[in-house]
Amino acid sequence: MLYYFLYLIREIGKVTSIKLNMKNTVSTLLKQKQSGDKITMLTAYDYTTAKIIDECGINAILIGDSLGMVMLGYENTIPVTMEDMIHHTAAVPRGVKNAFIVADMPFMSYQVSVQEAVINAGRLIKEGGANAVKLEGGTEVCQQIRAILNASIPVVAHLGLTPQSVNVFGGFKVQGRSLDNAKKLVDDALKIQESGACAVVLEGIPARLADFITKELFIPTIGIGAENGCDGQVLVYQDMLGLTTGHTPKFVKRFSDIGYVMRKGIADYINETKNGSFPADEHTYAIEDDVIYELIREEK
Ligand code: KIV
Repeated sequence: MLYYFLYLIREIGKVTSIKLNMKNTVSTLLKQKQSGDKITMLTAYDYTTAKIIDECGINAILIGDSLGMVMLGYENTIPVTMEDMIHHTAAVPRGVKNAFIVADMPFMSYQVSVQEAVINAGRLIKEGGANAVKLEGGTEVCQQIRAILNASIPVVAHLGLTPQSVNVFGGFKVQGRSLDNAKKLVDDALKIQESGACAVVLEGIPARLADFITKELFIPTIGIGAENGCDGQVLVYQDMLGLTTGHTPKFVKRFSDIGYVMRKGIADYINETKNGSFPADEHTYAIEDDVIYELIREEK
């Protein structure tokens, strides 16, 4: 009866655009997989953007180490430090009410030892305020996943074109095209699930392979450059809103062109400041005539 009631409210919400505001958690994400309700995830790296994204009703926000590229201007995610991640992560929960907040573990913060992995995951939760951490890799990070989960921290895994392995891959190249690689990815996915990962990001792998893995797993798959059949999708918000310039990967859809809107607004500001039409009267503060006349008289 209760489930039927909740189902009815959800359906009414869909039709009338009423948003059911409730905190997204590991278990709500799992329920979304079970019910076929697609999981939506976007990156955010600051308070203002996180607040807007959360208010739109997103399920999850990722403070990705992609911040190295889109916020700090690095060529890849390798140079990103724990301090960078904590600094940006800490801003996000201040703007978020309902989204599940996942923070990336940067390169070399979990690979060296299980102990370091747990300490660093703990910092992202304690100092950053995230709900979960994400790390890249399969079989080779299963011990870390288990240990972090034992410390009561949910872990999202990340397989396929894992950007921290860019130097091994020799560039940002689609993974899992050969039979051996595809088998390895399926095996990794099963192993990270067995180790307790609560979800897995599948990045840059062929559509039918992503579909196969999604059907094999009971935990949700979240695709980026993977497949429509994944249980959810994630994008870097600057890519999907048209804020990034240069090469756009094939999997990115531009849902808006905020870059154009920003450039136009900034150009208008420069022009109006130079020609004196900004600030206008409505942007300035008044003072009583008597005060200003007296000031001028006294100063003369
Ligand atoms: O760092 C990031 O933004 C990511 C997504 C691309 C999944 O890992």
